[in-house]
Amino acid sequence: MIIYFAPMEGITDGVFRRVHHQIFGGIDVYGLPFHKLTQSLSLLTREKRDIAPEENRGLRVLPQALTRDPGQLAAWLDYVSALGYPCADLNLGCPSPTVTRRGRGSGMLRDLPVLRAFLDRLFAASLPVPLSVKTRIGYESPDEWPEILALLADYPFAHVTVHVRTMREQYTGGIHPEAFDLALKRGLPHPVYNGDLRTPEDVQALVNRCPATEAVMIGRGLLADPALARRIRGGAEAGEEELRAWYTALYEGWRDRFQATMALGRIKKLMEWPVGDDIRRKRLLRRAEDIESCIDAALGKGPLSSNE
Ligand SMILES: Cc1cc2nc3c(=O)[nH]c(=O)nc-3n(C[C@H](O)[C@H](O)[C@H](O)COP(=O)(O)O)c2cc1C
Repeated sequence: MIIYFAPMEGITDGVFRRVHHQIFGGIDVYGLPFHKLTQSLSLLTREKRDIAPEENRGLRVLPQALTRDPGQLAAWLDYVSALGYPCADLNLGCPSPTVTRRGRGSGMLRDLPVLRAFLDRLFAASLPVPLSVKTRIGYESPDEWPEILALLADYPFAHVTVHVRTMREQYTGGIHPEAFDLALKRGLPHPVYNGDLRTPEDVQALVNRCPATEAVMIGRGLLADPALARRIRGGAEAGEEELRAWYTALYEGWRDRFQATMALGRIKKLMEWPVGDDIRRKRLLRRAEDIESCIDAALGKGPLSSNE
């Protein structure tokens, strides 16, 4: 089973990826959060840093672009190839209104003739690196999936990651695992399942349902439990010392990059995933003023009694 760490803009940056790999491992490929391509083809400083080979040493990563312009994408693929990466990804999944309004991300699923024209132009010339795609299963409704699937199957994508939700469903609506069954049945090249895998049992259930599953991509499940990929491979759960080392190293890496206040803000945001709806831990986290008390909150250690 190939396990991808889902790209998560604002979270899974180079510091995060390196520390995760060192402490927990279990990931085959880390997805890089998208580069939003522009007419001038100039990337933001943080985007350039994120894709720099020194930021990703020792890791397999998959750079990703968000664009509706085949010329921009082709130029970016040249850049990715010159940096030495073996594959790159096109984002057809981002549901943010600022992105979809401009017909990018999952906005490209709204108008399939336009998507087809884009892909025809893109694949008319040979690409400098193989291209994969990350898609949702529709814009408004999962009923759109068979047509999207048929369209994607017409192009030589290296693999296709399927987030089994529509744009409308954003991140919390129900999932449609049967859309992944259909991708396997229709012979889409190397489908990667994505959506709501939170435990090793969830992955087992997927494999029981679709024994041909070769690969999964996991995002929020790994934020809540950074040892999840290792556990899927039969390894140990995260221990307390390991979790302390994880949060401390992340904090220090982010502090050195962004300064202490912002690093603490990022850590608190990340800890919302393991803390979930636990009111006591949420309260502890909100009150925490340094990394040690944040960690205590995330681990459920702290001064508040359980009924406070
Ligand atoms: C905060 C956040 C940022 C994300 N950024 C990206 C991104 O840059 N590129 C992308 O393809 N998907 C992005 N996603 C979507 C995730 O990669 C993933 O598809 C989604 O969370 C569903 O998988 P999960 O249920 O395992 O979390 C983002 C999701 C979240 C919550």
